[in-house]
This record gives sequence, C-alpha cells and structure tokens, in this order.
Amino acid sequence: MTCYRPREERCCSLDPCRHAAETRLLCGSIWLSLQDNKPRMNRRQSAKPSSFGSPNATTAAPNRPRRAPVSGASLHFELDRTRFAPPFFKQIRDHIRKAVAEGTLRVGVRLPPERQLAGMLGVSRSTVVHAYQELVADGLVRAAPSRGTVVAPLEQGEIQGPGAAAGSWTLTLPPLAALGSDSGLLSEIVGATGRGDVISFASAAPPEDLLPVAEVAELLQQAFEELGPRLVGYGPVDGIPELTEVLALRMRAAGAMAEGDGVIVLSGSTQGLALAARVLVEPGDEVVVEVPAYLGAIQTFELAGARLIGVPVDADGIRTDSLEEVLSRRRVRLMVLQPNFQNPSGASLSQRRREHVLWLARRHGVPILEDDAYGALYHVAPAPGSLKQLDRHRLVIYLSSFSKTLAPGLRVAVMCGPKPIIARIAIAKQFSDLNTSPLGQTIVSRMISSGLYDANLERLRSASRERMRSLLHELDGMPQLLERDLDPRGGLHVWCRLRVGDAQEAATTAARSGVAVVPGTAFYPTGMQRAAGRDRIRLSLPVSGGHAIKVGVRRLRQGLEQLSFGGEQRPARRTAVVV
Ligand SMILES: Cc1ncc(COP(=O)(O)O)c(C=O)c1O
Repeated sequence: MTCYRPREERCCSLDPCRHAAETRLLCGSIWLSLQDNKPRMNRRQSAKPSSFGSPNATTAAPNRPRRAPVSGASLHFELDRTRFAPPFFKQIRDHIRKAVAEGTLRVGVRLPPERQLAGMLGVSRSTVVHAYQELVADGLVRAAPSRGTVVAPLEQGEIQGPGAAAGSWTLTLPPLAALGSDSGLLSEIVGATGRGDVISFASAAPPEDLLPVAEVAELLQQAFEELGPRLVGYGPVDGIPELTEVLALRMRAAGAMAEGDGVIVLSGSTQGLALAARVLVEPGDEVVVEVPAYLGAIQTFELAGARLIGVPVDADGIRTDSLEEVLSRRRVRLMVLQPNFQNPSGASLSQRRREHVLWLARRHGVPILEDDAYGALYHVAPAPGSLKQLDRHRLVIYLSSFSKTLAPGLRVAVMCGPKPIIARIAIAKQFSDLNTSPLGQTIVSRMISSGLYDANLERLRSASRERMRSLLHELDGMPQLLERDLDPRGGLHVWCRLRVGDAQEAATTAARSGVAVVPGTAFYPTGMQRAAGRDRIRLSLPVSGGHAIKVGVRRLRQGLEQLSFGGEQRPARRTAVVV
C-alpha cells in the first residue's frame, strides 16, 4: 500500500513510508489511517498547534505521533458551515469523489467507518451514511464484506491520477442519486427479466406467452401494405387520428371523457408521469403519493423537485382520513393516485373512499393524476371504474397504458383531461419525443377496432387469475417466511411482508437463489417513510409463464430460509385479508 502524502510531509522518510501498510488518507492536519481508521496527528502540524483550530491540539507533543483530537475543524475537508453552503452529506460525498478522481484514494482503500467519520466531522452518522450511499450508487465505492466501505475499481475509460478531476469528467458528474432514489432499479429489474437463469417476479409486465405476437405480426403486415412509409414516418404530436378517435370514443362511452376534455397518445405511462410532473409541478411543490406507490412515479416526481408526502394505503386503497389531514395542513399541488389494483399493494379504492377523495380534491382545489395502469386487468369482477368517471369538477387527469393490457413494447399510453392541460402536455411532449411511434399506435388502434384487443384482454384476465391463484397458493406454503395483507383481485402484484430478514437482504438472497423480487423500500419516497418498506418485498406474476411460479417460489423459499437461520422471526401479523 502506498502513502499518499507528499514526501516532504510524510511521517517518516521511507518510500513508501513505514506506516504505508496502513494505507493512509491525508485529511489536512490529521492523518487518518484507513486500515485501523484511527486519526493521528501529523508531525509537522503538531509542531504548529495553533493551525489546528482544536483546543486539544495545543497540548500535542511535537514529533510524537499520537491520537489526534477528533474534530471536524481539524480535518482537511473541513465542512463549510456557512448559511448557503451545500448540505454536509454533499460536501462529504464530493470530497471523496474528488479524492477518488485525483487518485488520492485508490482502489481498495477503506473509507473510515461511518460513525467515526461522523464523530470527526461533528455531523450525524446518517449524514455520512447518506454520503456513502450516494457514492455506492455511483459505483465509486462499495461495501466489502468484513472490510467496510472501500474504493471500487474504476469503470473502463475512467482516468485516475493527479489532475484527473478535470480530465475524468465522468467522475465529476452530478451523482446518480440526483436522478432520483433507486435510479437504476427499474432498468435492473427489466435486465434481470431477460436473463435465462433468473425467474423474475420483479417485472410488472404481462407474461410473454400471453403477448399477441401472431396478431400483431399480421396487423403489421397489413398496415405496411396499406400505409407504407407513413407507418415509419413522424406523426402528429398528440397521436395519429386513427387512434385518438378510437380512444376518445371508448372513453366517452365509459363516461370518462367530459365536454371540454382532450386526449393525447403518449409513449407509455412513464412519459405521462414525466410530462405531468413537468407541466403541473414546480420544484418544491408538495405532491401526495400513496405509500407504498409505483416506484416510477416516486422517482419521476422526486426528480422534478417535488416534495412527496406519502399517505398510507390499506386494503381499501388510500386512507382518506390521513389524506384529509394532509390536505388541510399542507399546500398540496397534486395527488398521484392509483385507485385500481394498485402497484405494489394490489389494493383498490373502495367506492366510499372514491367519493371521499373527490370531495377532498374539490374542497382543497387539488387536482388528481389518476394512474390507471391495471384497472382493465381485473381477475374476478370489474374494478369499480375510474375516478375520472365520477369526477364532476374536472379535477382528474386520467392516465392509462396498453403496456399491461396488450404489450409493453408498443409503448402506447393515453391521457385524458381538461383541454388546457392536454395542450400543455402536448407542448412538453413535443420537447420530449415529438411523437409516439406511429407503428405502435397503428397496432393498438387496429387491435381495438378489430375486437382483437378485447379478446386478448379476456385471455389475459383469465390467465392472470389462474396464475395469481397459483402464486398465492405457493406463497401460502411458507407462512413462517412471509405473509400478505390481501389477496389481489386484479393486476400483477403481490405485496408481501417478510417475517425474516429485511427487504434488501431478501432481494439479495433471492437473487443468489435465482429469483428476482423488488425490495419494498423502493416503493416509498426518500426519507423517513422508506423504513416502512424494510419488511416488504413485491412479487409480480413471472413474465416467463405460469410454469415458473412453482420453481421460482421454491427458490425464493430456499433463499429466505437461509435468512431465517440465525435471524429472528417476526410475529405473524395477518390483518385484513381480502379474498
Ligand atoms: C402504476 C404504473 N404506472 C405506470 C407504469 C409505466 O408503464 P408504461 O410506461 O409501460 O406504460 C407502470 C409500470 O409498471 C405502473 O405499474
């Protein structure tokens, strides 16, 4: 190991210096051994105690390395405590990023334990934890078993060394966490789904064997013969008329499109959430989300700078008593709700609460973005409809997708709401992607007009019902490991409470056993509420087909059993069970 201190400042003249085996980090006037992580006084500085700024330092004996006073003021990366300084966690994070970029901290070097660094800097441990978490998310450091947090190998193409902070610009990018909590999780989930050796309960998509491949191929061929190059050209921002007309007709028939409403076709609900965040919310605005909520919605609104207020969901959907309290105390800009077969809880909003939510929205003048990705995918009986159908005051903006009811790869979704809002969404969409691909739109439009869409949906519903039954049956065989609050009546998800381990451990052990699940924490906004998801995981119907359920749950069980050895089992807490 190397001593990184300039030769003339080393504590001995050997090169590498005698104490280099301890791998030292220069922290201004303190030498911090990164092996034993004990801060030590640097000789030169100790001879000039006044420069320390620490009262203890004045008594330090020169030329004798000894324990240094633990003081943030004496550290090289002294924190800026002035009024407009960046938050401490950012300062710590950026200091370490810079040190990695410049090569002061090399691969394998162990960072000080969180508690110790916190003590030295005079900040809370959670501040250091936060900084380290962001560095881990960036891939700059990693948690090494029994070693703590160590500097990770650099990604290919990244340069390390003196002055590299300027050259290796990728290391100085804003941290990944700036893109939202669990920013990489969605793509990881989709990635794991494609791996043949993994049975994925993580992806919220219709099973592959139920995708209408032959129908789509045939329609596509017909459409090419008929439309030729128009099928692969640009299209209108708000969608091809062939589709917007069909959608408007269906929404009007369902009572979900009122006088003065417009529709727009979007590239997935993901785009709908992003555009709504851009158009309806300004940084710092308060936005109500359910807790737990769809992680894509959480990430999108957090990225838009919204302050998320989580309102709990139970078996009857969002708790309107809590919602009422929040709305009367806070200045909420928007509510983002999933009234039907909510992702991840599976809960649907009861009729009484639907009316209550709309009443509250009106009373407090807060619009609702209704994300209805799963309403049509009921298993037993149709969902009670949408909030949009009940809305008499034009407070609801409706968003639905063909990803769960037809095929996610088509990237087609629809938004319906008051025309002034849709017009703004259209402008934002223009900046985002100009238009949704006419290919996907044409398929959706022709699937609907030909009746193939409804026929396929019926198939999907009955297969999902059977597979959900089988998944629940398998999960019921491991009550000592996990349980659930309700049996979903639609959608794709089962929200489970772990009786052993925590969400992250469960997801990690499951992955080692060859199954992918999503840790519950991902469904909560950043901050205190996240802890609420620590004993949860979400399982979705496997995309690889019904046969995967038995094997997948067996693997999950094996993984969780490992967690239960040595760990404590939480008491059962089966509450409201809905069948
Ligand atoms: C509730 C909810 N909303 C929106 C989406 C995004 O779907 P897409 O962008 O594929 O339409 C999902 C996907 O899982 C979801 O579960």
